[in-house]
Amino acid sequence: MGTRIVALGDLSGATADTIIDATGRIVAPGFIDSHTHDDRALLADPDLPFKVSQGVTTVVTGNCGISLAPLATEKAMPAPLNLLEGPGDERFGTFAAYVAALRAKPPAVNVVPMVGHTTLRVMTMPDLDVPATPDQIAAMQGLLREALQAGAVGMSTGPYYPPAASSTTQELIDVARPLAEHGALYVTHMRDEADACLQSLEETFTIGREAAIPVLISHHKLMRAANHGKSVQTLARIREQMRCQCISLDCYPYTASSTMLHLDEARLQGRITIASSGARPELQGKDLQDIADAWGVSLGEASRRLQPASAVYYSMAEADVQRILAFEPTMIGSDGVPTGDRPHPRLWGTFPRVLGHYSRDIGLFPLETAVWKMSGLTAEVFGLPDRGRVAVGLHADITVFDAGTVRDVADYDDPARPADGIVAVIVNGTLAYRDGQHRHTRTGRVLTRQANPAILSPGTA
Ligand code: ZN
Ligand code: CU
Repeated sequence: MGTRIVALGDLSGATADTIIDATGRIVAPGFIDSHTHDDRALLADPDLPFKVSQGVTTVVTGNCGISLAPLATEKAMPAPLNLLEGPGDERFGTFAAYVAALRAKPPAVNVVPMVGHTTLRVMTMPDLDVPATPDQIAAMQGLLREALQAGAVGMSTGPYYPPAASSTTQELIDVARPLAEHGALYVTHMRDEADACLQSLEETFTIGREAAIPVLISHHKLMRAANHGKSVQTLARIREQMRCQCISLDCYPYTASSTMLHLDEARLQGRITIASSGARPELQGKDLQDIADAWGVSLGEASRRLQPASAVYYSMAEADVQRILAFEPTMIGSDGVPTGDRPHPRLWGTFPRVLGHYSRDIGLFPLETAVWKMSGLTAEVFGLPDRGRVAVGLHADITVFDAGTVRDVADYDDPARPADGIVAVIVNGTLAYRDGQHRHTRTGRVLTRQANPAILSPGTA
C-alpha cells in the first residue's frame, strides 16, 4: 500500500478501499509534537492513544536533557531521568540500539529522536554535582557523535534540573560542538524560567553562537508571580536576536507546568498537585500542601516521601501564555509526561486546545496559523522537508478534524480523556484513528537525520 499523497483536488473519478467523507471538515497535515517525553511510551504503549487521539502523527523525543538512551549502566537513575523508566525496563547501551528497538516494533506515530545531555552526564560522570572535566566532556562528545550517527536530530539539555545544574555554560558549549558537524539542533529547558529568565536566554544564545548551532528554547514560560508579564521582554529579545542567529521556540497551551516533584523547598511554591508517585500512588491528584499538613511535615519532607514522583505546578499567567503562543515563530509542543494516573492534561489535550479554545473560541490567531504552528513550522525547524504539509508526493500524515467542534476534553481533574472533533488520523498512508476508535495500526517510522538531509543548519536560516 502507498504511503505518500498521490492526488489532491477533484477525485470524483477515483476509486479507493477506504473513503472518509471530509465534507465540511478540515484536512490538515498530521500534527508534529515538538516536545515530548514519549521515549519509553513508544515501546511500552506503542498505540500512543494520548497522542493519536489528538491528531498527532509525529513526536520529538529526548527533551529537557533526558533521553532513554544511551544508558549502558545498571545504576538507579536520578530524577527527572527516572520519569522515563518503568520498573524492570530494558536499557539501551547505545543510541543505535534504541533506534533499532523502535524500528523492530514500530509505534503508531513517527519518532524524531534526540539525545539528552543529562543522560550523557549520568553515563560519564560518577558525581553529577560538579562541572564536567575535559576528559568527561570528550566522553560525552563521543556519545553524542554516536547518537547523531544513529539518527538523533539534536541534543537537549536541562541545566534547570539537579543532575545538570552544575554544568557550566562552557560545558554545554563544548559538549554541543559535534552538533555543528551534523547540522543538528540544540534544544534546551533553560537554566531558569523565573527570576533569571532573561539571563538564561542570553546563555542559550551564547551557546548557539559559540558552538555555531541552531537553538530551540523549549516550553518558553515565565514562572512565579514576580515574573508574570516578562514575556514582553523575552519575546522582544528573542525576536531581536533572531536576526543574528538561528533560534526557535515552542510552548504548551496551559498556565500550569508539570515535571518531577522537586525536593528543593525553593521550588515548592504556589499550588502543587501530585501527578504520579511511585511510593504513594493513592495520593495522586492530591495537593502537596494537604499531604504535608496531614503528615505534619515540611513540603520538602513530604516531597521526599512521595518519590519517585511528578507534579503539576500552577505557576504561570494566562497573558504570558497567550503572548507566547501568539508569537509567530512559536511552535506547539505538549511536554506531556506519560506517567501516573493524574498526568497534566496537556498529555491528551494540547493540540485540540490550541485549535478549539485558543484559535476558535478566543480568536488568538486564525485556524490556519494554529495548524501551521503544529505542522509546517515544526517540520521546517526539525528538517522534515517531506512532512508537515498536504501536497502531492509528501508522506501521507493527515489529520481530519471538525473546526466547529474540536476541543480538548482532558482537564486537571480528569486528564486521561480523548479530545472531541478529531475525525480521522492517517500515519504514513494508513488509517490509525477514526471517529474515536483507535485502529491499533502501528505504521510510525523513525525519522532520522540521514532521512532528512535538509535539516536546518547554521547559515540556512
Ligand atoms: Zn522541560
Ligand atoms: Cu519537557
